[in-house]
Amino acid sequence: MMDFLALAGSRYSMRSFADTPVPEELLEKVLEAGRLAPTAMNRQPQRIYVIRSREAMEKLQQVKPCYNAPLVLAVCGDTSVACDRPVVGRNLAEMDASIVATHMMLEATACGLGSVWICAFDTERLARAFDLPDTTVPYMLLALGYPTEDCQPSPRHTQRFPLEDTVTVL
Ligand SMILES: Cc1cc2nc3c(=O)[nH]c(=O)nc-3n(C[C@H](O)[C@H](O)[C@H](O)COP(=O)(O)O)c2cc1C
Repeated sequence: MMDFLALAGSRYSMRSFADTPVPEELLEKVLEAGRLAPTAMNRQPQRIYVIRSREAMEKLQQVKPCYNAPLVLAVCGDTSVACDRPVVGRNLAEMDASIVATHMMLEATACGLGSVWICAFDTERLARAFDLPDTTVPYMLLALGYPTEDCQPSPRHTQRFPLEDTVTVL
């Protein structure tokens, strides 16, 4: 069993995917990890679209090519379901979706899969391509699969600031 810091450290953004499909049982584990994620007031506003059929992949390709990954999860949030209390001052669908996506990304690592989290896409075009309901906003794409033989982490993977740059003890 890998300890959590070792698991977190072994994950890197994979941008070179082999053709090998993601086994069904691993997809189920990844989705289950997302289901277990905490959400504000337990509203569970996440809406996850599994993109892997040829037809869905072709639609995605028009909006955002995802490094030829064999499977992509479009992680969305239904803003009409998410916690949106005046006291918070904002709708928490994106925060909830981020936690769900993080759970899934790290479970993918635990399953021996690679992943990359993608935000650089036109959310409105994606919503139109997949005919999403009006209140369902796509926040991130999580591309999943196995690495090609020559796949390497980018130099950014090892560039992390020391804790004193990002943590203030008061
Ligand atoms: C919120 C967020 C958005 C990101 N968007 C993209 C993206 O659009 N395309 C991409 O190739 N990588 C994207 N990444 C991956 C980051 O570039 C990557 O995590 C960072 O450079 C650190 O590298 P590492 O993941 O290999 O450790 C994103 C990551 C996060 C957390």
